[in-house]
Amino acid sequence: MSFSQIGVVGLGIMGAGIVEVFSRAGYQVVGVAESAAAVTAGQSNLAKSLDRAVSKGKLTQDQSDEITGRVTFGENFELLANCDLVIEAAPEILALKVEIFSKLDAAVKPSGILATNTSSLSVTAIANATARPTKVIGMHFFNPAPVQKFVEVISTKHSDSQVVSEIVELGNSLGKHLAQISDQPGFIVNKLLLRYLNHATQILDSGQASKEQMDAAMRELSGYPMGPCELLDLIGIDTCVEILKTIHADTKLEIDEPAPGMVKLVSAGHKGRKTGSGFYDYSAKLDVPTDPNQDVKNQVHNDLLIAYLGDCIAMEATGYATKADIDSGMKLGCGLPNGPFEVIESLGIDNVRKAQAELSERTGITAYQPLPL
Ligand code: CAA
Repeated sequence: MSFSQIGVVGLGIMGAGIVEVFSRAGYQVVGVAESAAAVTAGQSNLAKSLDRAVSKGKLTQDQSDEITGRVTFGENFELLANCDLVIEAAPEILALKVEIFSKLDAAVKPSGILATNTSSLSVTAIANATARPTKVIGMHFFNPAPVQKFVEVISTKHSDSQVVSEIVELGNSLGKHLAQISDQPGFIVNKLLLRYLNHATQILDSGQASKEQMDAAMRELSGYPMGPCELLDLIGIDTCVEILKTIHADTKLEIDEPAPGMVKLVSAGHKGRKTGSGFYDYSAKLDVPTDPNQDVKNQVHNDLLIAYLGDCIAMEATGYATKADIDSGMKLGCGLPNGPFEVIESLGIDNVRKAQAELSERTGITAYQPLPL
């Protein structure tokens, strides 16, 4: 199948980013959102991102204009009729996605592939809302979509293997690295990342460390591009709470219950960068978080890192994902300097297991224990 026209439904930060990825790669793109205001916001998200690239000298104004010229925006699903692929990037609410897919099924030509950019919801449940479940898959991008090079391709028990291969080929043509996985809550990256972000908020809630100490710890001691509180604000704390609810419904583990610190911020309207405030206030330019207390930074860095490495070991041991896909996902999806299995290799697996046992004993949380040998 050759792809020429791509549709995107939902034009928030992720949707607009996906529009940019495809239009930059030369595809004709149709961006649809539910209201005139949402369409205008999507256009502005795209314009801001392109202006940033022009001001940095990464694109000329002519190239930016060509990219914009390949995109048509509107509110009507009928605009999507001739799309070869439509990617849905609406909020993480299953009922909303099911409604959108039922409308897409009616509007898009029968040969069109329908993909969801869901962060954690059941792709199977979404596919079941259509009369073409063999042509429904997950295509999960990472924020900012034009920057992060990883895409998870999620197939369900209905997915046609030909459709999956065509999507992988398409993704590769965008310069992305794709991992194929089955339909499980959180897939590879979010299952690991959201538990880490929740753990950080639990530490914050307990008063053991401040947000600046935690963010500085992960930036300085592991070289992460952002600390956990900064990243929660980038993703959207409301989105993180929704993803955690889906993961928690599956694992039933207390450590996956959305931390009260996140829930409170969302209730107060502080959902992160998109609302102007979250853990941090974005009304003025933020300095890189820093803190002189090395002991606290060492402790939170140890605890966050060891719990996360333990989760990676457990995920690989279940056979859900390979070490290579987990390492690629965390490096290319989240910009981490090293994959978790590269870190385990450098620390030594015996040392990691000892540190897991120590963390579990100190916190009383059995989920942090190393796997039985
Ligand atoms: N849109 C497009 N491009 C952007 C961008 C945006 N919103 N933000 C930054 N960039 C580009 C910049 O233009 C710049 O490009 P060049 O290198 O070509 O100049 C590059 O990214 C670096 O940007 P900056 O120098 O301005 O800033 P930085 O070095 O601090 O990087 C960052 C910013 C790319 C966001 C980096 O901090 C990072 O990778 N953070 C981690 C983000 C992450 O983990 N994302 C995954 C979240 S999980 C998810 O998305 C899945 C989900 O379902 C929840």
